[in-house]
Amino acid sequence: MTKIVEVNDLKKSYKDFEAVKGVNFTVDDGEIFGFLGPNGAGKSTTINMLSTINKPTSGEALINGYNIVTDKNKVRESIGLIFQESTLDEKLTANENLMLHCRFYKVPKEKREERIKEVLEIVDLSEKRKQVVETYSGGMKRRLEIARGLLHYPRVLFLDEPTVGLDPQTRNHIWEYILRLKKKAGITIFLTTHYMDEAEICDRIAVMDHGDVIALDTPENLKTQIGGDIIEFRTTENEKAKTEVEQRYNVEVKEVDDKITFQVNEGNAFLVQFVKEFSIEITTVNLRRPTLNDVFLQLTGREIREETASKKDKKPIKRRGS
Ligand SMILES: Nc1ncnc2c1ncn2[C@@H]1O[C@H](COP(=O)(O)OP(=O)(O)O)[C@@H](O)[C@H]1O
Ligand SMILES: [Mg+2]
Repeated sequence: MTKIVEVNDLKKSYKDFEAVKGVNFTVDDGEIFGFLGPNGAGKSTTINMLSTINKPTSGEALINGYNIVTDKNKVRESIGLIFQESTLDEKLTANENLMLHCRFYKVPKEKREERIKEVLEIVDLSEKRKQVVETYSGGMKRRLEIARGLLHYPRVLFLDEPTVGLDPQTRNHIWEYILRLKKKAGITIFLTTHYMDEAEICDRIAVMDHGDVIALDTPENLKTQIGGDIIEFRTTENEKAKTEVEQRYNVEVKEVDDKITFQVNEGNAFLVQFVKEFSIEITTVNLRRPTLNDVFLQLTGREIREETASKKDKKPIKRRGS
């Protein structure tokens, strides 16, 4: 498998603060690769280095075989970039925005019309191409940005938090387009997210925290490493209950938001026994398969919460029906 992205001990410091602490990973050609981590983990900083926007403090990376420091132009030709914040010109139509980008990326004149048509079709915006962007919904703007990122036929498309601030239904739509892209355009997709469910869609995930990649695998493997099922329950006396679980079953217990969780094998059989023999009153109890949230919790002792999104990220949340 060709490595389209190769990253070697890449670091970024701001004065004496290490935002990215020397990360190592590779991305296969055609993969959907995700950075999952809470706000401030260093996801955007890494993407910005890989896309030549920020200069690394040290270390090395190759995109499509080109060095991100010494072959900047070749790297830029090889990538499409969708920032966390919109960079569309809202006063222009979709078509005009795309035309500008074609010129900027020196797409040959005779190919521009055809390319624009092609990318608008991928994101289902062909019919809206003559509308000014300020009339677009949040989801349509994101789709247009994705289309724009594809215009010069990049090998790798970088998407920084592609669905932040969108309502759940629109988020799902954006994901359909991203998956469609993978099929149609055959390109590598490199994205960041702090949404667990989105990370599930990736072929592989690098879990990031405090500037480090702390785990890297397929979502399935990451969850399997946790082993077994998760029991979560609430009681009237959590402190006592935690001690009892630890002593009775000899397992590691975690408590987040009044909810006590621990892992067991054979969850169904265990649950029956547990409810029967536990000495403290249980108010709610639930048995489930591990999620990526459990993976992060196991790795760091904390949860990735959607509330960790910065104010800037949270700005345009729209709910259905409001
Ligand atoms: N220009 C900068 N100057 C100083 N600190 C920065 C700068 N950019 C980012 N940081 C810090 O680096 C860390 C990682 O930020 P970032 O890469 O944006 O995280 P993420 O995208 O995972 O939320 C954060 O603590 C952030 O405050
Ligand atoms: Mg970010």
